[in-house]
This record gives sequence, structure tokens and C-alpha cells, in this order.
Amino acid sequence: MPQKVDLYDTAYGNYESQAYRQVRVETYGADLGQTSWVTAQESEEIPRLLELSLNSWVLELGCGSGGYGLHLAEKVGCRLVGLDINAPGVRNANQLALARGLSSQARFEQFDVSDNLPFDDNAFDAIFSNDVLCHIPGRPRVLGEMYRILKPGGRMLFSDALVIGGMLSHEEIATRSSIGFYVYSPPGENERFIERAGFCRMRVIDKTENAAQISKRWHEAREKRKRELVAIEGNVNFEGLQRFLSCVHILTSEKRLLRYLYFASKNS
Ligand SMILES: C[S@@+](CC[C@H](N)C(=O)[O-])C[C@H]1O[C@@H](n2cnc3c(N)ncnc32)[C@H](O)[C@@H]1O
Repeated sequence: MPQKVDLYDTAYGNYESQAYRQVRVETYGADLGQTSWVTAQESEEIPRLLELSLNSWVLELGCGSGGYGLHLAEKVGCRLVGLDINAPGVRNANQLALARGLSSQARFEQFDVSDNLPFDDNAFDAIFSNDVLCHIPGRPRVLGEMYRILKPGGRMLFSDALVIGGMLSHEEIATRSSIGFYVYSPPGENERFIERAGFCRMRVIDKTENAAQISKRWHEAREKRKRELVAIEGNVNFEGLQRFLSCVHILTSEKRLLRYLYFASKNS
């Protein structure tokens, strides 16, 4: 069985390193500190779907190193709170906010989002979460919390890259899960939970191709910088992450694992 591999501490702890920056630029086209399967096009689609504006209060669940949340705060002018369990990610996010003069608009806190969310009812205009909820046990409870803290008429969006589309071997599941805790969902399960939480106007968009593309580019960009990355991560972690990325590419390009974007609103 593949051993555990670290992705997030390494990616966020070495955010400023030239090699990691170059890998992000080559993988995503623009460096927003990503560790997700969100392409540049999807990054642009998210604020439109959520109808973000200057007056929006926005919550990001699993903000990672903060780059995307800060990009939205800068571009749209909205106010944003980001939560993530990873300490180096949250530290990096707050440092970036300070460096970019966005601290009064955006703040980041270390928080396990499987707990009750630390906000009042009806607090946010929009909530989003890019490739995070698959790490969280108890999806109905998270969706219930998202519903509770959204204002009437508020919008939510999340992506799930672990919807089962075909047969998977136990080795493939182990390699795909080698970077942490994961929940795999049967098709239709997210839709049922979203409805049960009370949301309306649901839209589901197939984004499997984005995971297939990003995993391939990420693997290739890392391979090109193997010497620098091995010096930072060590050989075992480097090879483990490469196996993880190849596995994502194979499973998504063969549509045995699917990635969907779920969008819904709270009744006004
Ligand atoms: C695939 S990454 C996506 C990060 C970011 N959304 C992006 O687009 O780059 C998943 C993120 O979920 C965070 N995460 C995992 N479990 C979590 C939990 N229980 N509570 C909060 N964040 C969590 C990880 O630390 C990581 O930053």
C-alpha cells in the first residue's frame, strides 16, 4: 500500500520558493497559490456564478495559502474570510493579505471546517469551497452549516473531485488517498444532501476534464524541476506526489473518478 505523502505542508510552507512558483505558473497559467484542480477558466467562472460584488461578504472553506481569496478581494472588492486547517497555509494567507494591503478586506483563520462554523446565522452573501469538502467527514452537517450562515438569497458553490464514475481498485483508491483523509461519493449523493439542506436553484457542472488537465500539467511541471523539489521535499515525498498526480490523471481521464461543481442558493 502507498505510504502517506505530504502535499499541503510542503506546498504552503514553500510558497515563496522559486521552484514551487514556477510549478504553479506552468500548471495553472497564473500563480494564485493553488493546490486544487481549478483551471484559470474555472477561477474566472466562480465569482460570476456567485454574483460577487463590492458589497459581498464571502466565506471560503479550505482557503489553502490564501492566493485565490485575495485575488477575488482585489479583483471584485468584496470582503472575505478564509478558513483552513493547515497552519502554514493560514500564516501565508495573512502575510500575503498584509503585503498586498488587503488586511482590512480579507482575513484568514486556522479552523477545522468539520466543526460548527464560527459565524452567526445569515452572515454571508456567498460561500465557496474549491476541492475541499471531499476531505471533510459529515457532508450533510457541513452543508447544513453553510445554509445556516448564508443570508436569504445567498449563493454557495463547491467542487468535489471524488465522485465515483467507474471501477476502482484498492491500490488506486489508496494512491488517490495518499495525501490525507478523503470521502468518495456515489453519483447523485451531493445533489441529495444539497436539497436536504434546504438549498434551491441547484446547478451541477461536470469539471472532470479540469482535474485531468491540471494533474497532467502539475506532474510534468514538477518532473522538470525534480532536482530542486527533491532537495526540499525529499525523494520519497517527491515520488509519492508524482504517483498521486499520475493516479488522478488516469482516473479522471478514464472518467472512473469524476469532478463536479455544485452551485445552489438559499431561498430569499
Ligand atoms: C485541494 S486543497 C484546495 C485548497 C484551495 N481551496 C485551492 O483552491 O488551492 C484542500 C484544502 O483543504 C484543507 N483542509 C483539509 N481538511 C480540512 C478541514 N478539516 N478543515 C479545513 N480545511 C481543511 C487543506 O488544508 C487544503 O488547503
